[in-house]
Order: sequence, then C-alpha cells, then structure tokens
Amino acid sequence: MPETLPLMTDLYGSGHRLCTTPNPSLELVLSQERPIDLIELEALCDAVGWSRRPLRRVRKALQHSLLQVGLWRHDARLPRLVGFARCTGDGVVEATVWDVAVHPRYQGAGLGKELMDYVLEQLRGMGIDRVSLFADPDVVGFYAAQGWELEPLQRRCAFWYAP
Ligand SMILES: CC(C)(COP(=O)(O)OP(=O)(O)OC[C@H]1O[C@@H](n2cnc3c(N)ncnc32)[C@H](O)[C@@H]1OP(=O)(O)O)[C@@H](O)C(=O)NCCC(=O)NCCS
Repeated sequence: MPETLPLMTDLYGSGHRLCTTPNPSLELVLSQERPIDLIELEALCDAVGWSRRPLRRVRKALQHSLLQVGLWRHDARLPRLVGFARCTGDGVVEATVWDVAVHPRYQGAGLGKELMDYVLEQLRGMGIDRVSLFADPDVVGFYAAQGWELEPLQRRCAFWYAP
C-alpha cells in the first residue's frame, strides 16, 4: 500500500504560508504553529555565527515568548528549520522582535523579508500596533528598507507602527 504523506496543515498548522522561492523544487514554509526543536534552532544560530546559549534558558525564553515563527524547508518526512524569529510582549499593544535569522544557504532570496512580513501580520492579528527591535549594527539597513523607523542615532533600535 502506498505511504500516505502528511498534509501541509498537519505539519505546519492552518496558518502556515508558502514562500516565494527562486528554485521551484524547493518549498519553504512559514509557520507559527509548528513546534521549534531546540537542537535545530541551536544549529541555525551556530550557522549565522551567534554564540551558544544554554538550551534550558532558550527553552524557557521560547515558552515565555508571545510568538515563535519558523521558516521550514518542506520535507513531508522531516522538515528542516532554516529560519526563525520570535517576539516578546504584552499580547495586546506592544511587542519586541528577537533572534531573526535565515540560514546562510537561504539568504539573499527575499526570505528574511517574508519572515518579517509574516511576523508583523501575526502581531497585527493580535491587535498589536507598536513593534520594536534591537538590530545588529550591520543589519539596521535590512529593517530600514522595510519601513522600520530608526532611532535618531540609527545604530540599533528600530520601531514599526501599524499604518
Ligand atoms: C538579516 C537576515 C535575516 C536577512 O535575511 P535575508 O533572507 O538574507 O534577507 P532578504 O533576502 O529578505 O533581504 C531583503 C532585502 O534586504 C537587504 N538586506 C539583507 N540583509 C541586509 C543587511 N544586513 N543590511 C542591509 N540590507 C540587507 C537585501 O539586499 C534585500 O534588498 P532588496 O529587497 O533591495 O533586494 C539574514 O541575513 C540573517 O539571518 N543574518 C544573520 C543573522 C542576523 O544578523 N540577524 C539579524 C539580527 S538583528
């Protein structure tokens, strides 16, 4: 009997979104519902050169986050985490975005922007209309190009207000 593969909604939840990719054989999916595997997240953070944090602290940080978004390379048997972002906040008015990363192999294809668009849409869905973040200095331009307002010194802080 042929194997029945799980549906996209089984793997990623009903709110998942397919990304546009330059490679038609590659399916990339954004989801805030699929649970994040800590080891995979650690490997992603390693790949973008971030220093390691104890896994029990990361687990707790995720548990206390308002939103966790994974960017997955679709594979019906074993989806791979290739991007991530999370937010903290009050769940009503304000949120702060943390840990935005796209695996180097997938950078430069518009996925970081799609990830941020998805994050902001999920926050807007909660009614949140003020979002902040602390960018690494060499990434400030990535957010500025997407309409984030920079603090006067334009070094790290960026703000997004719902139109
Ligand atoms: C920053 C990051 C998430 C961007 O992801 P990405 O998938 O490469 O970004 P995109 O391809 O969606 O880029 C969208 C636009 O932003 C630009 N951009 C990307 N990285 C940029 C940077 N560091 N500075 C300025 N602009 C940048 C792209 O050139 C592109 O411009 P275009 O629309 O004119 O073509 C990714 O490079 C990354 O994970 N970096 C390592 C971790 C990191 O620094 N995270 C941010 C912490 S604040």
